[in-house]
Amino acid sequence: MCGIIGYIGKKQAAPVLLDGLKRLEYRGYDSAGISVIGENGSRKIFTLKATGKVAILEEKISKQNIIGNIGIAHTRWATHGKPCDKNCHPHLDCSGNISVVHNGIIENYRQLKNQLIKNGHHFSSETDSEIVAHLIEEFCKKMDFREAVLQSLKLLKGTYGLAILHKDHPAQMIVARLGSPLLLGVGKEEFIVASDACAIVQYTDKVVYLEDGEVALITSEGFEVMNIKNKQIEKKVSTLDWDMEQAQKNGLPHFMLKETFEQPESVKNAMRGRISKADGMARLGGLRDVEKKLKNINRIIIVSCGTSYYAGLVGEYMLEEYAGIPVEVEYASEFRYRKPILNRKTAVIAISQSGETADTLAAILEAKNKGALTLGIINTVGSTIARETEAGVYNHAGPEMGVASTKAFTSQLTILTLLTVFLGRQREMSLVTGQRILKELEKIPAQIETILKQGKEIKKIALKYKNYADFLYMGRKYNFPIAMEGALKIKEIAYVHCAGYPSGEMKHGPIALIDKNFPSLFVVPKDSVYEKNISGMQEIKARGGKIIAIATVGDKEIKKQANDVIFIPKTLEMLTPLLSVIPLQLLAYYVGVSKGYDVDKPRNLAKSVTVE
Ligand code: M6R
Repeated sequence: MCGIIGYIGKKQAAPVLLDGLKRLEYRGYDSAGISVIGENGSRKIFTLKATGKVAILEEKISKQNIIGNIGIAHTRWATHGKPCDKNCHPHLDCSGNISVVHNGIIENYRQLKNQLIKNGHHFSSETDSEIVAHLIEEFCKKMDFREAVLQSLKLLKGTYGLAILHKDHPAQMIVARLGSPLLLGVGKEEFIVASDACAIVQYTDKVVYLEDGEVALITSEGFEVMNIKNKQIEKKVSTLDWDMEQAQKNGLPHFMLKETFEQPESVKNAMRGRISKADGMARLGGLRDVEKKLKNINRIIIVSCGTSYYAGLVGEYMLEEYAGIPVEVEYASEFRYRKPILNRKTAVIAISQSGETADTLAAILEAKNKGALTLGIINTVGSTIARETEAGVYNHAGPEMGVASTKAFTSQLTILTLLTVFLGRQREMSLVTGQRILKELEKIPAQIETILKQGKEIKKIALKYKNYADFLYMGRKYNFPIAMEGALKIKEIAYVHCAGYPSGEMKHGPIALIDKNFPSLFVVPKDSVYEKNISGMQEIKARGGKIIAIATVGDKEIKKQANDVIFIPKTLEMLTPLLSVIPLQLLAYYVGVSKGYDVDKPRNLAKSVTVE
């Protein structure tokens, strides 16, 4: 995930910026860069960039004599354009006078870029971010720097955290926030701007949190905050009582909890700029080159492991029901040793958070050898599977640090929904159906928010059931994979034995386990299989088994059947997994924590399984 650091004060800026970049490394990145306004009589902006680790940038900087007390720097996690020096931030305008670092996505950058090109601007990168430098340059022809920044911001659609320098204003830095975090560390005669508190805590514990729509003009003497209409805003200086590790976790005790709570944002990021409501279509830039091939495929095989495999299973239900394409989902570890029958009309899709899982990679290489079209739904930009597949869609969930996959899973489901709309609209799906799915998908982030607000009640339920040694998790149709995913979560985080099952299969065996010491959890939203699930619950109840239910808000019947209920908002049946999985993540988390386990690093597990 991109990171920003900026410095203005009495110290040399370059070492402070480098130190900040190192502290931002944990967020994941593919390249890094720095701009410092030079002194020594040579008033120019020194900019250095490096693809790969911050250490490479450090090496480059050590060979230069960069003297200056004001600078900005960035770690980039590619969104528009591949990871390489020219796409790395900071980005400069045509004259090299303005330098910009940017987090977020400028959704209307194409229109703005076309207009700027018409006005004679030359672009050096493929990024959306570069347009900000050129826009400011354009406005600077008619007004001062501050006003030019404000006018530029008015034209941007999307999200941004920005830090901006101008060579002719060597004592000023302008920063702005809209949907991408930015805070200002207030030190003694110095200010440090960062997208993440972890780059600030070692300099000061006094911070100003910028809110969306706010812009700050900073000098070494002080700062003022305004909105984009130049109206002054009073800001409170807060005290940060976090250490470094807490800062990385945003003040929360574990990465798993932080990442669970990030899901409204990561789901938004997965769909950002990819929804075209007017034509009920998903815009998936990474598939542009294979659009024609995708029109001709008549079969899909999804290969993946663990949580990513369960996302694939949800995808199977979506794609078959709405895109009308036959889908098989395979454990990559099985697929790689089978003799799969593939041809050019088969698309093999790898789903992987890390993009490095050995089995998934081997499965994709096998599919490639056999002539199938290979695609990836990958979170880690530039990872091996992302490179080995012919085309694909990135999740943009940001790095996932907790071993348990949480936000990567919901972003995978979001991409699979978009892919279903994309392939469906290439085929028989009507405009109205495409529009309805996209409209409901857009509501999901706010709906996840309402579930997260029930954290305390979910914790209570977790504590009530924490001492049971065995569980049966069940669901049907779209929520059968969610029962499996919930069971995996509580196994890996809380070391509780739990079997995930399609609820219709219960009577074929597992029901023999049920007694008062063996509780069950049913994922039972109001959907096309609701009544079937209720029958299953009645059978458990009749045998003295306790039941937790994940049900749709407003369901009055459910309380008669279940001992404890967690409600989720109403949505389309195909989208319920995006909501029903959230309580299951929290249940696993709270049970694991209550037992004193290290939920971020469960025993025997690795975040990325790069060996067989
Ligand atoms: O990086 P990937 O998505 O390819 O990883 C696949 C699995 O190893 C992963 O989902 C694993 O099951 C997680 N620990 C689940 O929380």
